[in-house]
Amino acid sequence: MAVIENSKLTVVGAGSVGASVAYASLIRGSARHVALYDINASKAEAEVLDLAHGTQFTGSSDIIGGADISCVEGSHVVVITAGAKQNPGQTRIELAGVNAGIMKKMMPQLLEVAPDAIYVIVTNPCDVLTVLSQEATGLPPERLFASGTVLDTSRLRWKLGQRAGVSPSSVHAYIVGEHGDTEFPLWSHATIGTVPILDWVTPAGDKMTVEELDQIAIDVRDAAYKVIQGKGATNYAIGLSSARIVEAILGDQNAVLPVSPVLHDFHGISNVALSVPSIVNAKGAHPIYETTFSPSEMGLLRRSADALREVAGSLR
Ligand code: LAC
Repeated sequence: MAVIENSKLTVVGAGSVGASVAYASLIRGSARHVALYDINASKAEAEVLDLAHGTQFTGSSDIIGGADISCVEGSHVVVITAGAKQNPGQTRIELAGVNAGIMKKMMPQLLEVAPDAIYVIVTNPCDVLTVLSQEATGLPPERLFASGTVLDTSRLRWKLGQRAGVSPSSVHAYIVGEHGDTEFPLWSHATIGTVPILDWVTPAGDKMTVEELDQIAIDVRDAAYKVIQGKGATNYAIGLSSARIVEAILGDQNAVLPVSPVLHDFHGISNVALSVPSIVNAKGAHPIYETTFSPSEMGLLRRSADALREVAGSLR
């Protein structure tokens, strides 16, 4: 999978999300070496042991880790999941204050041991934490970005695939904007195979309606709340989404993924991290400036940007 020789991924945070990112990366062979780092030594060591016990079945990947930050050394990619997680009914934005404080302390320590890594922020609110971390570290925007709506896009593709009777990988549709309550689908570019979404004939012989697509968008936006209500957290899908991003970097894949780098004059939007279709490769994330938006989509993108800019501004 990895093009980078002897590739190393570090996952920061050994909670359910971080352990799932490590688990997904081992199973998918996303990196040759995986490290799981957490200041909680017993948790980190237990997760590493539990994962290591299964590495006979995971190909050539191996796992190390613990509470000693030296385990981060030499990482090509660092995925950050450390921080408070949403409680049932809590928005991602409500985590901003406490998690911004954690990031502010942690980023300089990580950069000391992994100065050349590409940083992927999963901790929420990931878009806000990205713009604050990028400002604090001075890293170029392509080298520090959020996982953004890669997960939401996967939720959308699953939902549409179910309705359309096709594999999610044949649904070409994106969620963009905030990884959160102001996210929205780019319906203007949505197709199933080569068929525009509203022209697709489902196995039931009918077509999806605009109202149905609007409801699907709401269900996708609110999906995390539903999962958190039932099991206390989301972890598997974000683990897989993060592993996918890691592979695009370590495999130098030039994959189009809706990750969230700090934008500069993206259709007039600057100084805010938002998910837009981006090329992800060994150098990081590169927004695709040629992406077009309908007038209503442009309005929604600006609304997402304004909402996030306000939150980031309140934390500076
Ligand atoms: C979710 C978390 C990762 O959407 O924000 O499941």
